[in-house]
Amino acid sequence: MTTRSHRSMVGAAALAALGVCVASPPVAAQGVDASAASEVTFTKDVVPILQRSCQSCHRVGSIAPMSLMTYDETRPWARSIRQRVAQREMPPWYIERNIGIQKFEDDPSLTDDEIATIVSWVDGGTRRGDPADLPPPRVFAEFDAWQMGEPDLVVNLPEPIVVPAAAPDRWVNVDTEPIALTEDRYLKAVESRPSLPGAEKVVHHAVAYVVSPDDEQGFLNEYAVGKNADIFPDGTGRLMRAGSRVRYNLHLHAIGEETPADVQIGLKFYPKGVVPDHVVFAAHAGDSYDTIDIPAGDNNARVDGYFFLHEPTQVVSFQPHLHNRGKRQCVEAIYPSGLVETLSCAQHNFAWMLNYTYQEDVQPLLPAGTNLHLISWYDNSDANRYNPDSRNWIGFGNRSMDEMSHTWMNIFYMSEDEFDRRVQARQTKRAGN
Ligand code: HEC
Repeated sequence: MTTRSHRSMVGAAALAALGVCVASPPVAAQGVDASAASEVTFTKDVVPILQRSCQSCHRVGSIAPMSLMTYDETRPWARSIRQRVAQREMPPWYIERNIGIQKFEDDPSLTDDEIATIVSWVDGGTRRGDPADLPPPRVFAEFDAWQMGEPDLVVNLPEPIVVPAAAPDRWVNVDTEPIALTEDRYLKAVESRPSLPGAEKVVHHAVAYVVSPDDEQGFLNEYAVGKNADIFPDGTGRLMRAGSRVRYNLHLHAIGEETPADVQIGLKFYPKGVVPDHVVFAAHAGDSYDTIDIPAGDNNARVDGYFFLHEPTQVVSFQPHLHNRGKRQCVEAIYPSGLVETLSCAQHNFAWMLNYTYQEDVQPLLPAGTNLHLISWYDNSDANRYNPDSRNWIGFGNRSMDEMSHTWMNIFYMSEDEFDRRVQARQTKRAGN
C-alpha cells in the first residue's frame, strides 16, 4: 500500500468511526405504550422540546404561522404537530439519520425519544400537567437580532427595490459603493436577511459576492428562505479587502401586492490584525448543467456531478441546492484509493435552504486527489406538492421551475504536512476516548 492510499484510508476511517450510526425504525411505526402515554404532560415533558426546537420560529412576530409558547396556544395544533414531528418535517432539518456524519452545529432536530414523547402526549389526550413542572421560559434576543450576534458592519442595497404586484420572476444584479472597510479584514461570520416588511416574501434568494478593488469576484453568502448564518470555525475566515464592494444577485418574485425589498448583509470580523490560519471559501461544488435531464412524470430522476480536490481539504459545511423538483441530495468522497464514503445525505424541501455545519471534530478531512461526488434526485411527478406541472420535461435553468444541481460547501485547503498532523491529532484523540 502506498503512503498516499494508506493516508486516505486513515481519513476514511476517521470519518466512519465518528459519523455513521445505525438506522432505527421510524417512530410512527413504533407502538406507544398507553401507560407511558398517560404520564406525559405538557408542562413537564413537552415544553422543554418546544423551547429547544420550535419556539425560535413559533412565537409571535417570528416566521412561523402560529405561536407554541403556551399550553393554550399549542393545544389546538396537537394533531398537526404530531404529524409534522413524526414525519420529521418539523423542525426544518432534513439530514438523513441513518447514513453519513451525524454531528452538526445548532442541530434543532428531535431524537426518536423526543418524537415519541410528543406522539404520546397527543395520543394520551394532551394533558396539561402541573404548572410547577414548567421550566423557566426561554429568553429570546430581540426579533431583528442577528443569529450570529451583532455584526461589525451591515451592508444594504443602495436603495430598496420595489417589486410590483404582478410581474414575471426577475433576476437583478446590483453593486454597492465600496463598503466602509479601510483595511483588509478576515470575516468570522456572515448572515443575510431580507429587510423591510414583507421583503421575505418577494426575495426568493439573494446571492452576495465580494468584488475587490481590482475587480476580482468571490462568493460571500447566500440567503434563501429559512437559511441560517455562516459562522466559520475558529482559526478560519474569509478575506475581505479594503475598498471592496458587494455585488448582489437577487431573485425577485411578485406576490400580488407592491412590496419594497432590501437585503441586509451582516459582517462580523476577526479583531484587527488577526490573520486566521486558513481562508475558508464557499465552493460551488459538483455542478451539473446539460446532464440535468428529467423526463415528465419521473419520480426518481438522478443527476451526478463531481468536484475534484487538488489539495488536502477540510469540509466545514454542506448546503444542497435544488429547485422545485428536488427530492434528495447526497455527497460522497471517492478517495484516491478508490474507497467511497458517503459524507451526508439530506432530503430536500423546497421551502427551506439549510446550511448544515459539521461539528469541528467530524469535519471531513480529505486527502488531495479525492473526488467529491454529488448525487441529486428529483421528483417530477404529481406526488411532489412543489411541482408546478408534471407534464414538462425539465432541464437546467435559473427559474425555480427549472432545475439545478450543486452544493455550496465551505471548505479550506491545507498543506500535506498539516493534513497529516490533523489526521494524527484525531486518531490520538479517539484513542484517548
Ligand atoms: C426555523 C423555523 C421553524 C422551526 C424551528 C420550527 N418551525 Fe414549524 N413551521 C415553520 C414555518 C415557517 C411553518 C409554515 C410553513 C410550513 O408549513 O412549512 C411551520 C409550520 C408548522 C406546522 C404546520 C402548521 C399548519 O399550518 O398546519 C406545525 C404543526 C409546526 N410547524 C410545528 C413545529 C414544531 C412542533 C416545531 C418544533 C419541534 C417546529 N414547528 C419548529 C417554522 C419553524
